[in-house]
Amino acid sequence: MTTREILVTSALPYANGPIHLGHMLEHIQSDIWVRAMRMAGHSVHYVCADDAHGSAIMLRAEKEGITPQALIDGVWKEHSSALRDFGVAYDHYSSTHTDANRELTARIWLALRAAGHTESKPVKQLYDPVKEMFLPDRYIKGECPKCHSKDQYGDGCEVCGTAYTPADLINPYSVVSGATPVLRESEHYFVKLADFEAMLKGWLAQRRDAGALQAEVVNKLQEWFADGLRSWDVSRDAPYFGFEIPDAPGKYFYVWVDAPIGYFAAFKELCDSGRSGLKPADLERFIRADSKTDMVHFIGKDIVYFHTLFWPAMLHGAGLRTPTAVNVHGFLTVNGAKMSKSRGTFIQARTYLNHLDPDWLRYYLASLLGPTLADVDLDMKAFEERVNSHLVGKWVNIASRCAGFVHKFFGGKLSAQLPAEASASYADAAKRLSACAALYEARDYAAALRLIMDVADTANAYVADKAPWKMAKDDGQREHLHVVCTLALNYFRLLTIWLAPVVPSIAARAFAFLGEAPPRFEAANTPRLGATLNEFSALTTRIDPLKIEAMIEASKENLQAATPSPQPLPREGGGAKAAASTSPPAGRANRSEAMGSTSPLVGEVAARSVAGEGSFISIDDFARMDLRIGTVLECGFVEGSDKLLRFVLDAGELGRRQIFSGIRAAYAEPEKLIGRKVVFIANLAPRKMRFGVSEGMILSAGSGGDDLHLLDADAGAKAGMPVK
Ligand code: 2FM
Ligand code: ZN
Repeated sequence: MTTREILVTSALPYANGPIHLGHMLEHIQSDIWVRAMRMAGHSVHYVCADDAHGSAIMLRAEKEGITPQALIDGVWKEHSSALRDFGVAYDHYSSTHTDANRELTARIWLALRAAGHTESKPVKQLYDPVKEMFLPDRYIKGECPKCHSKDQYGDGCEVCGTAYTPADLINPYSVVSGATPVLRESEHYFVKLADFEAMLKGWLAQRRDAGALQAEVVNKLQEWFADGLRSWDVSRDAPYFGFEIPDAPGKYFYVWVDAPIGYFAAFKELCDSGRSGLKPADLERFIRADSKTDMVHFIGKDIVYFHTLFWPAMLHGAGLRTPTAVNVHGFLTVNGAKMSKSRGTFIQARTYLNHLDPDWLRYYLASLLGPTLADVDLDMKAFEERVNSHLVGKWVNIASRCAGFVHKFFGGKLSAQLPAEASASYADAAKRLSACAALYEARDYAAALRLIMDVADTANAYVADKAPWKMAKDDGQREHLHVVCTLALNYFRLLTIWLAPVVPSIAARAFAFLGEAPPRFEAANTPRLGATLNEFSALTTRIDPLKIEAMIEASKENLQAATPSPQPLPREGGGAKAAASTSPPAGRANRSEAMGSTSPLVGEVAARSVAGEGSFISIDDFARMDLRIGTVLECGFVEGSDKLLRFVLDAGELGRRQIFSGIRAAYAEPEKLIGRKVVFIANLAPRKMRFGVSEGMILSAGSGGDDLHLLDADAGAKAGMPVK
């Protein structure tokens, strides 16, 4: 076997939310691969990091009243501990907000610039005049131009599925401040992707022929090529949390530029640390264009574009190596549906860990994971049954039925040799399972586990047939009993070796019982004879269904306990790494902000942010709104606006309030409203408009336009009274 040196990565989780089971699908998939490749004898370095930049993180930090650094530090602790506790053994888990990443990003950018692959040109974009920032598409909402549903994102309608641009929205508003966005021009920097078309086509064909890109991915890429490769907009204007572009004050690298470079940066830190047998010079050995090492990325199907077009183009343009393989997986669904906060199936990694053994989920997900982009369903009933039947019933039981006899009658020692027939049976089983190495490498974990469970059936049939518990009653059968238990426990060891990448913690306990350090796959070829066993204790238990229920309940509680967030912030470029429950797909990718000026990515994917997904708010959320009665003192048209009426309200103890309200079409004679009692939101952030400052919002019922009706209050309600 040729030994390979491989750098393996998983997609970097955004640092603005917890790790959930949708993320875990990928981290588990890559961790199993890394463990299997190491057990096959390869040298593997496994890194990941938090994706710490972007508008979403900046705005969230601001809302929480902390610095972005404090936010990402806190999230890093949560992320890294959740991953570790799931047995995902990164050699280094970093962040993209590091000096190493700043330096590597500048280096790659300057190399692209020096080679003439960059350009700058003015771009018109919607701007929030109150917040004084350019707005990504997902930060603009308004009425869908097609079906007229309210509060739709700037990139597409979640109700009717129409894709559009923010400029198409009716009555657009900024999600950040509520202000009406205005078009404004600014200079943007681009990478000229068209320069790389021939190179990318060659890379694609070569990787496809090497089996390092899946057929679905190749097909998608070919469609994108057919659309033509437009320049990629890689800059964002201040304010932005990220790295400033060299020689361009006030311009920042878009988060998707420095995110993949974060793979290199995390590896650089690992090299610099001297851990894992690496040294600082190894970075260049891995990243230079003629590197003999491999670089393998694991990603979800929604970020294919970034990893198979932008990333190889940037690398090649900067004179560096390109990825060896990009392994793409589907999304996680739970109980056959998109993950849902209100159903309690939006499960955070930590919530799972508080109730259930991580190896159980690893096993179940692996039993469904193949090398395709198919979605994977966590069906709670099937999860319980499969873990109980396979891990406990077929695997661990072999050891629990035989270990006691070895201790009781043979001083804990396995017999020193096996008779020919038993040896042949073992060799046959070992040979069957040797196919698993290739299956793991090909990421066909489902097939590997099927094979392993087939051999477990053979082993269990052997134990059932020999019935050691009957033999133990007969002194004349001692020697035979020793052979039976030795062969059965060697079957158990064989299964353990091949299951180890999937269930590392249970396997570690099993190897401790077998009295050996976790071995490589090749150790499976030879049975372990004459060795002394340690005491056997339960390696794992059956799943108690009550614990699953408790986890679901706790996930519902997480929803209620979530920080009240009247205007949930979308994630940078969308991107929950799971199929999250929302209305029907908007017909284009969930990362439109991320796409800059390029064409849509994965049309069939709509893993929207779950931020606004829960259908309930808590009483605390409601209590945050200060609703009051106001008496209309003045009301009239606003010069220069065909939508607004200007109100002055007597707000009792709150004094007077000026409020602009978009209800002109419904009230042709505004002066008639003077004296009316209305309901208004008193603690909405004041909004600077062209006509003056609006200090609240007056509530009305209806669908918009002339179908709007002010709310009324019964006699007795006084100006300034709170509405509860
Ligand atoms: O989609 C996401 O969650 C991104 N944070 C993944 C980045 S992967 C890489 F490019 F860094
Ligand atoms: Zn619509």
